[in-house]
Amino acid sequence: MTSLLTIRPVTPGFAAEASGVDLRQPVPPALAAEIDAAMDRYGTLVFRDQALDDPTQRAFGEALGTIETSRATVDVEQARLADKTINDISNLAADGTILAADARRRMFNLGNQLWHSDSSFKAVPAKYSMLHARVIPPRGGATEVADMRAAWDALDAEMQEKLRDLVCEHSLLFSRAMLGFTEFTEAERATFAPVRQRLVRFIPSTGRRSLYLSAHIGRIVGWPVPEALALIRDLMEHATERRFVYSHKWRVNDLLIWDNRTTMHRGRPYDDKRYPRDMRRVTLTDVASTLQQAA
Ligand code: OGA
Ligand code: MN
Repeated sequence: MTSLLTIRPVTPGFAAEASGVDLRQPVPPALAAEIDAAMDRYGTLVFRDQALDDPTQRAFGEALGTIETSRATVDVEQARLADKTINDISNLAADGTILAADARRRMFNLGNQLWHSDSSFKAVPAKYSMLHARVIPPRGGATEVADMRAAWDALDAEMQEKLRDLVCEHSLLFSRAMLGFTEFTEAERATFAPVRQRLVRFIPSTGRRSLYLSAHIGRIVGWPVPEALALIRDLMEHATERRFVYSHKWRVNDLLIWDNRTTMHRGRPYDDKRYPRDMRRVTLTDVASTLQQAA
């Protein structure tokens, strides 16, 4: 069978550049299957020179799965983008100007600089995130992705045994508190109430396991909080060693896809009070809570 995609791996097992397709065109099932296979193999794919707009980015997402529509942010009524399937990952206010230095949304968005997995704080978390660059700053603002399957594989057997059946509590309240952002309304506290997820995931399509870490973790069920957070911090350090990390330097019209089941990611700083950075994300939802996963 001839393949539609050309794949150029960044490393033998993690991150690859994919080319040979125009993602503005309808995605035939054979191409969707090749993308899934490449995602299973590499965890992260880069497509360059894809001049998507909101409708074509959305259509591409729909071709690969079910799109998340609930917006997990603060001050949702101040949305800049009308289409609820497009997540606004920018430093722009509803009127298109750069967010003020003390804007609440800006403070909240800084949480994206912590290593995390998207929507791990939702009962059914995210599968793929597809982030597209519309406007980029002159310097900084890279996105880093870390390989949580390799991080799991690199742990010794004793540690794997200790972690295997642990369950964590995830919430946006926990990740934002890490940066000292604690001014949530009662309604936001209710919306962002913690959810439980397994710390070790099993991915049926590959038979591999991954460490399901995220800045959103604030508890391990049944553990004292300091002991839990000390372990999570240790695992975070391990899992984000440079040997597990791909750093993506953006060009306009790049589409970066990562699998939230098997990777963590973070945004890197840039001069966000001065330069616009307009990134838009379509996110696919996973099929079930990790608590339901096969043993
Ligand atoms: C995201 C995210 C980081 C960045 O889109 O989910 O965390 O570099 N982005 O913008
Ligand atoms: Mn994210």
